[in-house]
Amino acid sequence: MKGMRKISSATPADRFRFDDPDRAVVFHRHDLPSPWINYLSNGSFHAFVSQAGGGLCWWKSPTVFRLTRYRMYNLPLDSPGFHLYVRESDGATWSPTFRPCETPLDAWEARHRPGRSAFSGRRGDVEVSLELFVAPDHDALVWDAAVTNRGNAPLAVDLFAYVELSQFQWLEELQWGCYIKSMLNTWRDKDTDAVLYLCHNQSHPRIEDCPLVYFACTRPLAGFSGDRDAFVGPYRSERNPVAVERNRAGDAGIEAGEPCAAGQVKRVVPPGGTERLQWFLGVVPGALKRFPEAMTGLRAALAALRAPGAVDAQRDKLDAWWNEHLSAYSCEAPDETVQRQVNLWNPVQSVHNGRYSRSISFYAPGVRGVGFRDTAQDMLAIAYRKPEWAADSLLRLLAGQYRDGHAVHAVFPEERQPPWTSVHSDDHLWLHPLAHALVAETGDLGLLDRRAPWLGPDHTSADGDGTVWEHLLAALAFTESRLGAHGLPLILRSDWNDIIGRFARAGRGESVMAAQQYALALRLMTGLARSRGDEAGAERLEALRAKQERAILACAWDGEWWRRAFDDDGNPVGHRDAKWGKIFLNSQTWAVIGGVGSQEQWRRAMDAVRRDLDTGVGLRKIAPGFATFPQDPDPFVGYNPGCGENGAIFCHANAWAVIAEALLGRGERAWAYYLNLLPERVLAKVGLDRYQAEAYAYCSNIVGPENARFGWANVTQLTGTAAWMDVAVTQYLLGVRPELDGLRVDPCIPAEWAGFRVRRRYRGALLDIRVENPRRVEYGVGAIEVDGARLEGGDPVIPPRVLQGKSSATIRVVMGRAS
Ligand code: GLC
Repeated sequence: MKGMRKISSATPADRFRFDDPDRAVVFHRHDLPSPWINYLSNGSFHAFVSQAGGGLCWWKSPTVFRLTRYRMYNLPLDSPGFHLYVRESDGATWSPTFRPCETPLDAWEARHRPGRSAFSGRRGDVEVSLELFVAPDHDALVWDAAVTNRGNAPLAVDLFAYVELSQFQWLEELQWGCYIKSMLNTWRDKDTDAVLYLCHNQSHPRIEDCPLVYFACTRPLAGFSGDRDAFVGPYRSERNPVAVERNRAGDAGIEAGEPCAAGQVKRVVPPGGTERLQWFLGVVPGALKRFPEAMTGLRAALAALRAPGAVDAQRDKLDAWWNEHLSAYSCEAPDETVQRQVNLWNPVQSVHNGRYSRSISFYAPGVRGVGFRDTAQDMLAIAYRKPEWAADSLLRLLAGQYRDGHAVHAVFPEERQPPWTSVHSDDHLWLHPLAHALVAETGDLGLLDRRAPWLGPDHTSADGDGTVWEHLLAALAFTESRLGAHGLPLILRSDWNDIIGRFARAGRGESVMAAQQYALALRLMTGLARSRGDEAGAERLEALRAKQERAILACAWDGEWWRRAFDDDGNPVGHRDAKWGKIFLNSQTWAVIGGVGSQEQWRRAMDAVRRDLDTGVGLRKIAPGFATFPQDPDPFVGYNPGCGENGAIFCHANAWAVIAEALLGRGERAWAYYLNLLPERVLAKVGLDRYQAEAYAYCSNIVGPENARFGWANVTQLTGTAAWMDVAVTQYLLGVRPELDGLRVDPCIPAEWAGFRVRRRYRGALLDIRVENPRRVEYGVGAIEVDGARLEGGDPVIPPRVLQGKSSATIRVVMGRAS
């Protein structure tokens, strides 16, 4: 942390805390340095909401079915959102989300839990709570509110719920919004007492699906508005809408203009009483083509949602989904920050990544579709919890692979847009770890015989199909057919690192990282071929791996670490005599993960990582960062030194360092790297006002020491860090890792740990794994017992046959070999 200037001494504890039994992060103040968001979703209807109630919602795609507005990158920060105004009879107006009114309150709190965000405020004798979640069975955001009267007199109160509506297509709205605003209507439907919205822009790419949007309450509406500008009033904002001030929603929809949906209800709450009421902000699809059917659907949805007990039942169902997901793997460890991360926040973030790829968050505006490499990696954290979901994703990714084995870079299934077709050296090589993880988890080799289409040369239609196995082989063949002068894979547009392609502008640059990744893919495929009984195939794959290994060893070792690439002219990138970018993190970690090199080389290279890249709050991706414009008129990267790809602490790449050190059996170091980046720990170390971002979700990168903003977290929530840290801690540190031969239990822990416990589902059995560490070692298992019976053989792998027929088993693992 050398060079880090302190900005403020605010303590995080004033503003938030964790409530583990409640699976919650609790906020005591709304004004964090940035919005700390939570995702609410049922898989097709989605929202994100901050601790201050800012956020937006969308249906299926944030690009083409964005339902509400959120002014990305603009001030006022985190606006607008899901706003509930409480108007007391004296005219005082406030919000249980604190914003947008910002009226001083006597008490206020917000809570994010998996899939739900709850807010509560108290002003005098009036308490109001609001919980937001998406109903599992309906495409609707539920606003579950309660008003409690703690006073002695009846409380007369007006509640206004308000959202600003969007024109569905986000980029289109920025470009053509001035015309589209005359292609929409809001109105109140008397029959259902709902505020309705149609945007009937005829150039929508999915016009047949365009929905009717509804906003309805469980109480009769005393007023409504569909007209944002009339509701808010000129030169006002969400903070002080004129309609709320006048206590009259306006009772007008629009046939042109800026749409909103607002509903006013009037309630009188007796002394000591609580009144619960709910709003539903939802969609009924297909309204532009089949309007009468949509109205029928609307009536059915509202009848179901308004039925007594329906909201509680939907909340229970949502919780049950999360309970099931979280119970697939949990630990008891001597460190509560680790437990919290492993048992709750990391798997929660991994689900968000599985759903949204890198598309939408407070930082990402929602136009990026599904990244091929990104989703293939994200699914590694889903494969061991919900293998069906991960298998389904694998098959969908394979439909984006061409017959020659390479793959599209990103797809836009919900947007019905053509894929990004740039050709990268890595996209297709992420398929093998995922397929291998799935087979290892489930034991189902049948996955490899399932069929998926090949993507045709028009980048849109299918060109026949092939088995998963054929797809995986084609991916290897593509890499083998694109080797450069040193025999390493050509970089092409890039490898995993987006900016590395700048070394390969002429198309001749080669990637050491892609070579190491290729070596891993070949090793995993050799194992799978053997499991399939294909010995000849296994030998062919092993021969290719050995060839690639020889090529790497012949050119990539720099004396103390691994080089990162070769440029178009064959010059090494990432070597000791370079002025900038002497050492790159990825080729050191991937040497170990890919299994290329000697123990001696791996250890030396990882020692160099520690010496040259460790900032104390994570490892930089490269050092020193490359100078940029204007110092270098043809800069290698546009990023300033210390930022992003140019020497930031790139968290995703740190997870590979954790795995590499764990594979080397260096527990202390592996854990130091893991703990360094645990969001709540790095935040505490750096300081909330400098770090700024969520304490419960990984960010993509933290600005490095070469920049004055050292310690500032960027692009939280949607990052490959989530999946890889999840895999690193559950499978390599705690060490419970599915392999083709069974479940490996091979922990790498800090020597002071006396033991830990993991509960994990595995092929139908619930395993209670108790690890003891009497000799206080970091690594190495001496004995394993399954329900009291000792496992023979030196390898700490539980073969599935010993679990056969068991629905549960207790596994005792004793670390430290008897001397
Ligand atoms: C970003 C991109 C990801 C890429 C990584 C490294 O996280 O989303 O696709 O692999 O940067 O460049």
